[in-house]
Amino acid sequence: MSIITVHDKQFQPYITAADIQQRIAQMASEINRDLQGKRPLFIAILNGSFMFAGDMFKHITIDAEISFIKLVSYKGTKSTGNVITSIGLDEDLYGRTVVILEDIVDTGKTLSMFLPQLEHQQPEQLLIASLLHKPDAQTHPVKIDYLGFSVPNKFLLGYGLDYDGLGRNLPEIYQLVD
Ligand code: IMP
Ligand code: MG
Repeated sequence: MSIITVHDKQFQPYITAADIQQRIAQMASEINRDLQGKRPLFIAILNGSFMFAGDMFKHITIDAEISFIKLVSYKGTKSTGNVITSIGLDEDLYGRTVVILEDIVDTGKTLSMFLPQLEHQQPEQLLIASLLHKPDAQTHPVKIDYLGFSVPNKFLLGYGLDYDGLGRNLPEIYQLVD
């Protein structure tokens, strides 16, 4: 692996494909152990988490379901700030064990605004699995139950993460060269 250019910026290799796969297998085995018999519903948040969700789900050996949602944020008409709503969730979460699959928790804003909507449906348990977390960027509290990698506050690319639409197809994760 070497430095790549996407649009106008340069990125250097940061986490290898092998390390990503190994960590995801470990996360999955924790989930298999913790949620045995619960028939969890995984909810992957598109677009960024599609690769993580696919690779994670292959390692889930207990009975489990998966669904995909897209979060849409728009400005409230008053000074209520951004409202985040989901499209594509058909399942009833009442009494379910739910595991949210996220690519990265950066500021935490997206999840902290969205989770209350899911909690409103009264799942038995609402857990978060995130491949990446930038603790130094976080401004909104989110409890991550299963974490892949804690990373510095630098822009990342690859393995589902994009820079202006490109780079999601890279099997490894790159870091912006500054
Ligand atoms: P939040 O700041 O925690 O609300 O992050 C929202 C979303 O921003 C994440 O789910 C990602 O899709 C995207 N994001 C955050 N950090 C990065 C990054 O370093 N590279 C690419 N996308 C990112
Ligand atoms: Mg995302």
